[in-house]
Amino acid sequence: MKVFSEISEVRKCRWRDASLNWGLVPTMGLLHEGHLSLVRRARNENQKVGVSIFVNPIQFNNQQDLVSYPRDLERDLELLRKEGVDLVWTPTPNIVYATDFQTFVEVERITRPLEGKARPGHFRGVTTVVAKIFNVFQPHRAYFGQKDAQQAVVIRQMVRDLNFNLDLITCPTVRETDGLAMSSRNARLSPAARRQAVCLFRALTAAENAFHAGARNAAKLKSVMEKTTEPFDKARIDYISVAHPETLDELTAINEKALLSLALFIDDLRLIDNLILG
Ligand code: PAJ
Repeated sequence: MKVFSEISEVRKCRWRDASLNWGLVPTMGLLHEGHLSLVRRARNENQKVGVSIFVNPIQFNNQQDLVSYPRDLERDLELLRKEGVDLVWTPTPNIVYATDFQTFVEVERITRPLEGKARPGHFRGVTTVVAKIFNVFQPHRAYFGQKDAQQAVVIRQMVRDLNFNLDLITCPTVRETDGLAMSSRNARLSPAARRQAVCLFRALTAAENAFHAGARNAAKLKSVMEKTTEPFDKARIDYISVAHPETLDELTAINEKALLSLALFIDDLRLIDNLILG
């Protein structure tokens, strides 16, 4: 497994055998089974697999969140070696953003609601760095998690709008045995908060059950989710949404599919999760 920080070295390795298919998994590190599920899918579907590990400063709207973002590069590289990854890019911030950096990629309408509303500037940072990572690797396929549903939709829009020549693949959310979606942030939950963090998945499955029992009214589903979180005294709702899975417009009633999503603070840690209905 080759590990490089310099862009020129990544490019040289990428093009050494130009006829091979490359799959790419962009990450911010502290890898868990969620990330590794994307790596395994990429490993199955491509001759070569690249991974980027970069905690992207410009997608953090909260400086404290950036400073306290957990990192463990040695452990990450060991995990990737075991998965048979070919190439890992681990740039420093000054490699990705030169001092006179002034070009940003911004997807408009679909970045406004949900995470975009709660975290101003977040998606502009995500699309800018992902466009750069795509340009460095020029992969045939790129893998993203359903865990960050809006991110996947936004990147799909960017790929279409800017004609990136690659297939985008969205992979299912990997969960702990109690249903909590795996996330690098989970490591920051206290044991008591960790026990309550299951309420995100409980709320989603309660709404899913109501949907299967015939409920199609969005307000009804949101109230089922709200009620499910009530007994959890450490949980504070940031948003609960029933939206169209592609346009991300809020729905009043579900005709076909809906993206059910929520963001909660558990103590002071913000967690997100989602489910597609229908
Ligand atoms: P990060 O949070 O490290 O996630 C990297 C990829 O792993 C994303 O596509 C994310 O959706 C996916 N992922 C995270 N948890 C998952 C889970 N439990 N199940 C399945 N997939 C999961 O997302 C980012 O990094 C950054 O925004 C990035 C795209 C790398 C740009 O900086």
